[in-house]
Amino acid sequence: MSDFKGKVALVTGSSGIGLGAALHFARLGAQVHLCGIDAELNAKAAEAGQGLDLTVSRVDVADAGEVETWVTQAGGAHGIDILVNAAAVQTYGTTETTTPDHWARVIAINLTSCYLTSHFAYPYLKARGGGSIIHVASVQGHANQNKVLAYATTKGGIHALTRAQAVDAARDGIRVNSISPGSVRTPLLEFAAREAAGSDGDLEATIAGFGTAHPIGRVGTIEETSALIAFLCSDAAGFCTGGDYLVDGGLTAGLGV
Ligand SMILES: NC(=O)c1ccc[n+]([C@@H]2O[C@H](COP(=O)([O-])OP(=O)(O)OC[C@H]3O[C@@H](n4cnc5c(N)ncnc54)[C@H](O)[C@@H]3O)[C@@H](O)[C@H]2O)c1
Repeated sequence: MSDFKGKVALVTGSSGIGLGAALHFARLGAQVHLCGIDAELNAKAAEAGQGLDLTVSRVDVADAGEVETWVTQAGGAHGIDILVNAAAVQTYGTTETTTPDHWARVIAINLTSCYLTSHFAYPYLKARGGGSIIHVASVQGHANQNKVLAYATTKGGIHALTRAQAVDAARDGIRVNSISPGSVRTPLLEFAAREAAGSDGDLEATIAGFGTAHPIGRVGTIEETSALIAFLCSDAAGFCTGGDYLVDGGLTAGLGV
């Protein structure tokens, strides 16, 4: 895997896939700025990053002012080479049950945040002569479960955002791609498993059950998403832009019947 020494990476989402990507880049020599909204998760991320060049900040990615301040402080000194958007919330609701407030909140955190970080990071990426933006979408942007109206909408929106950004940014040497994970063992997946299992349910059995829905027979790991993100940000992926890359154990290849 390529070396990221001298590169500056900004990553949103201080647990799960975001934290995994941040630690991966830092171990490969990058200067990493990670942000999240949850104080406890931020503290754990800072502890995990001890000895590495990793700074953790408290940022609400849905707040334009907070995003601008974070990106400007992080990019101001050395510029930005890599931006990874992994912060999100997973919520449940149908057209009937999703309230306007719920809808607006999920769109803001999961989708608008990807635009906001890209918007404020763009001049710093451009000044470095190019770079790479990765948005973490989901298989639910391609096909979805029941009752994920707002969440699935944000993930489909990320696919369109990725294409639109990629077409515009190519002239500045900036590549934009998304990844679409299937089930990956993270706090978000454990939340989904708890919802599925109910209060008396067996969490491990439920997660194993999620795994069997994937042709590969298990859920994915954070190491597997980190490896894909790092590949897409490396020079080896220099001809990849505007794409969505599945890391889903074959989930969307099958019909599930
Ligand atoms: N784990 C999976 O199975 C799976 C599958 C498909 C897609 N994804 C996507 O992967 C990404 C990462 O999710 P994860 O599984 O690592 O879950 P996670 O819950 O561990 O990570 C999401 C992070 O976003 C943070 N966050 C939420 N609201 C925020 C806000 N307003 N500002 C800043 N940070 C905020 C949370 O505190 C959390 O640290 C998400 O975009 C998710 O939709 C995950």
